[in-house]
Amino acid sequence: WRRFPLKLVEGVPIMEPIADNWEMIANFQARPDDLLIATYPKAGTTWMQEIVDLICHDGNAGKARRAPTHVRIPFLEICSPPPVPSGVEVINKIASPRVIKTHLPFQLVPKSFWEHNCKVIYVARNAKDNLVSYYHFDRMNLTQPEPGTWEEYIGKFTQGNVGWGSWYDHVRGYWEERDKRRMLYAFYEDMKEDPKREILKVMKFLEKELSDDVVDKIIHHTSFQVMKDNPMANYSSFPETIFKQSISSFMRKGDVGDWKTHFTVAQSEAFDEDYRRKMAGTSLRFRILFFAV
Ligand code: A3P
Repeated sequence: WRRFPLKLVEGVPIMEPIADNWEMIANFQARPDDLLIATYPKAGTTWMQEIVDLICHDGNAGKARRAPTHVRIPFLEICSPPPVPSGVEVINKIASPRVIKTHLPFQLVPKSFWEHNCKVIYVARNAKDNLVSYYHFDRMNLTQPEPGTWEEYIGKFTQGNVGWGSWYDHVRGYWEERDKRRMLYAFYEDMKEDPKREILKVMKFLEKELSDDVVDKIIHHTSFQVMKDNPMANYSSFPETIFKQSISSFMRKGDVGDWKTHFTVAQSEAFDEDYRRKMAGTSLRFRILFFAV
């Protein structure tokens, strides 16, 4: 393992092993009952994975806890050095119905998912908290490029020069497609505000009915603290040579608005000005963004 450089796939910077195996990923064969959980990295992927897995197992935390998150819901495009099998190889062997995680921007998702009209749950997180979370993740994830200084990282993020490319293009790409696909577009901030409301939305989308008791159980098991303490959800099963959690925990803070402890006023103002330019013309709105709000 090492910090892999980023390589372009159709203009999007992605970790080198993924780019080198791009044909295999692009040709992935989805099945009609596959469910895709799609996110920009650090938007709340693991949280949504745990919610979906518990819903699919009728809230049975014992069953859902039998293996780490990334084993229960594998990562489509991940490619590790041999002998570790690629995400595609792993997913090809899973019995249906399958739940699959991806960070690919909409235009890079294998076409087969759309040919089969697969359901997709997208989670979006406001840009500044997403950036902060990604910065700390790139410090501890020893397979991604060094983040550099905080100031440098803001530059990389705004230029889309990080793994899986531009946050702006990513969140907009799925947003523009939401009505044309079987897609639930969820927000991290909504999940924090009212987990029950958002879990019920996911259940409705998955056409799953569960008793109030079971829903309460799911809320409990997917709360930040319980997930942080759950070795099957907190990535402690990953060796320190990949995720060096002594640098920064995978389950770091789980807050909305943590960006205010990182950005200076000047950095925030410059970020906001650039944000308005990049997000002009979209109806996509995030609730927490500016100091004034
Ligand atoms: P922070 O770094 O801000 O703490 P992903 O799963 O996409 O990699 O996202 C990880 C981010 O989601 C981290 O954010 C992590 O703490 C947060 N997260 C994970 N589970 C959560 C939960 N149950 N509630 C709130 N935030 C959660």
